[in-house]
Amino acid sequence: MSKYLVTGGAGYVGSVVAAHLLEAGHEVTVLDNLSTGFGEGVPAGATLINGRIQDAAEYLDPSFDAVLHFAASSQVGESVTNPGKYWDNNVGGTLALLTAMRGAGVRKLVFSSTAATYGEPTEGLLTEASVTAPTNPYGASKLAVDHMIAGECVAHGLAAVSLRYFNVAGAYGEFGERHDPETHLIPLVLQVALGQRESISVFGDDYPTPDGTCVRDYIHVADLAQAHLSALRVATEGEHLICNLGNGSGFSVREVIETVRKVTGREIPEIVAPRRPGDPAVLVASARTAHERLGWTPTRSDLTGIVTDAWNFARGHHS
Ligand SMILES: NC(=O)c1ccc[n+]([C@@H]2O[C@H](COP(=O)([O-])OP(=O)(O)OC[C@H]3O[C@@H](n4cnc5c(N)ncnc54)[C@H](O)[C@@H]3O)[C@@H](O)[C@H]2O)c1
Repeated sequence: MSKYLVTGGAGYVGSVVAAHLLEAGHEVTVLDNLSTGFGEGVPAGATLINGRIQDAAEYLDPSFDAVLHFAASSQVGESVTNPGKYWDNNVGGTLALLTAMRGAGVRKLVFSSTAATYGEPTEGLLTEASVTAPTNPYGASKLAVDHMIAGECVAHGLAAVSLRYFNVAGAYGEFGERHDPETHLIPLVLQVALGQRESISVFGDDYPTPDGTCVRDYIHVADLAQAHLSALRVATEGEHLICNLGNGSGFSVREVIETVRKVTGREIPEIVAPRRPGDPAVLVASARTAHERLGWTPTRSDLTGIVTDAWNFARGHHS
């Protein structure tokens, strides 16, 4: 049994990973300021500290085996209008966390990085060697953190894995996605199915893709959680390992909407809107490194299963 600090464990991905760690028999402390997370989202059996990563030095001690770091501001649009918040919370907050880890002698880290570090790719499958050219302050702040972590590994022997998530989706039982404002496609389409939103906007249907709409790589949150457990096992002193997490295949916006229609049996009116600046036609991961280094293979990549789990969660939280 190991003891883990999970920053952001009251949020969507952090709560699912915390649940998996507890099921594997580990001890979990969640550090979360509940800015976008929910106290009731923290799995039973975990200890919740309502605090900020900026104050991590108060909470970390040598009894922790590792930190899993999910806490961040992660709204792309907000990062464009309020970039300072992203440098402050994501970069400043992580710097404080890394310093606190060094002070407490906690030498292992798994970090939630993102496909947004790559920006607008010109190639098909994105590998970890692809050019990183983020197109917004959110992606830039996450890339800056990846660089900070790399330096910490070289200078101070940290063992670290950055997991670059593509589009996380689905739910794990009672743990699911509840962002406010919601910007992710599947929960937005489910809001239409629930009557909370009149229609879904399709931003551009003239892309060079089979049906003209953007293609994205959707990864089930439970598959993602398994990758974190593997990352904790393989993290090596002095190494910063970066792994993309995706399925290696994509679904178009229209395919997602059609799947929601089938799963929910509801009407989903759609409106075609202009393209959004900075939206690449296709964003799909090569998960080869995750496969080779983490021994990770996603098992829930089927879109109907992802949407069904998200729908069951959304219905349960519909008020
Ligand atoms: N959801 C996705 O599709 C996706 C994709 C790529 C990367 N990510 C990354 O994964 C991580 C988790 O994403 P999510 O969708 O679960 O987001 P979320 O907003 O649901 O969870 C983030 C959590 O961090 C907490 N938090 C924020 N700032 C904090 C601070 N200073 N101190 C303590 N707690 C703080 C929030 O209260 C929240 O509970 C984020 O780092 C995000 O950038 C998510």
